[in-house]
Amino acid sequence: MKVVTIIGARPQFVKAAVVSEALKAAGHEEILVNTGQHYDENMAKVFFDEMGIPKPDYDLGVGSGTHASQTAASLIGIEDILIKERPEWIIVFGDTNATIAGALAAAKLHIKIAHIEAGLRSYNRLMPEEINRIVTDVISDLKFVPTDVARVNLQQEGITEGVHIVGDVMVDSLKKFTVVAENKSKILETQNLEKKKYILLTIHRPSNADSDSRLKEILEVVGSNKIPVIFPVHPRSRARVLRILSELSGHVKVIDPVGYLDMMLLEKYAHTIITDSGGVQKEAYLHKTHCLTVRGETEWVETVQDGWNHLVGKSLGDIPGFLSSFPEPKRWGTHYGKGDSAKTIVEILANSN
Ligand code: UD1
Ligand code: UDP
Repeated sequence: MKVVTIIGARPQFVKAAVVSEALKAAGHEEILVNTGQHYDENMAKVFFDEMGIPKPDYDLGVGSGTHASQTAASLIGIEDILIKERPEWIIVFGDTNATIAGALAAAKLHIKIAHIEAGLRSYNRLMPEEINRIVTDVISDLKFVPTDVARVNLQQEGITEGVHIVGDVMVDSLKKFTVVAENKSKILETQNLEKKKYILLTIHRPSNADSDSRLKEILEVVGSNKIPVIFPVHPRSRARVLRILSELSGHVKVIDPVGYLDMMLLEKYAHTIITDSGGVQKEAYLHKTHCLTVRGETEWVETVQDGWNHLVGKSLGDIPGFLSSFPEPKRWGTHYGKGDSAKTIVEILANSN
């Protein structure tokens, strides 16, 4: 089986690492295409190096830009590659501009589309990712959903064919690389952090990161508690964060984005994670670390239902209370699978060929 896989942004590197490995192990031919949406060394190369992702066969180098320019450049580049390579399948991950570009290019060329991490919904169309997910799911042939909730989301939109509940490939990555991180990462020592005595902060959603007043509110409330805060800052908001922090007193330490191994340890040993990332919320649950999500809604509803994650986007004032006394979580379950999702996906793909 010949497959073209599309990646481009940090969360896709994390997911592709285990799927590429499973494709190779099963003897399939994978042509890897990196749109280059993320390009800084610590947003891209570090993941290839640490996670053993193969060198891409094509690098489109689309870089940063508006949604239309980024998506259009990816679409044109991917179309050329698909015409040349003529794969049986294209694999797209998640909900970024690389996802929708890959799916659109393939659909018009009648190349079958497999969407990994299908069926997720925030029901907030102000998020660019929500648009990307909906469109990609509608035109995909195989929808690999992580959970039953995601399957039901699709059913409610009339999508029932080609849907497979396979767990989440991010569990595969987390399980495989947390063990490696325990041996290799020195991040706690280099940042002088004591286990379970620091807060890990990540903020990069446009609704939080692109406005001075909103970001200031978040940094003020998070930084005013007694627990030290470490904030690997996404380049999108670096300048704004540093400017705002220079006007505030508080305990927020900004560092550059970290590689996956360092991130696994930072998440696992945090007292609490405060984030607006999709992947980081889920990873908090998998590491059994308390999480506060700075959004009004989440796609990863199981984390909230089980009591490991609380939504504080509309009530930032609740953050200090959660930090001093986090309600005992109700349960923990393997909603996201047991770490064998990539293998299952590759088997289903090969059988659907
Ligand atoms: C993208 C995804 C988002 C995902 C996030 C993960 C879309 C619509 N959004 O958002 O779903 O959660 O990646 O991290 O695809 N920049 C750099 N260097 C880089 C990359 C980005 O400096 O290597 C800066 C640029 O100023 C750029 C900005 O960050 O304009 C935003 O990058 P972009 O890829 O457009 O969106 P993300 O916020 O990263
Ligand atoms: N991540 C990382 N280093 C960082 C921030 C994030 O390795 O400094 C990892 C994180 O653990 C997750 C992935 O990047 O596996 C995607 O997270 P991100 O917040 O970028 O995207 P989202 O999941 O919100 O789309």
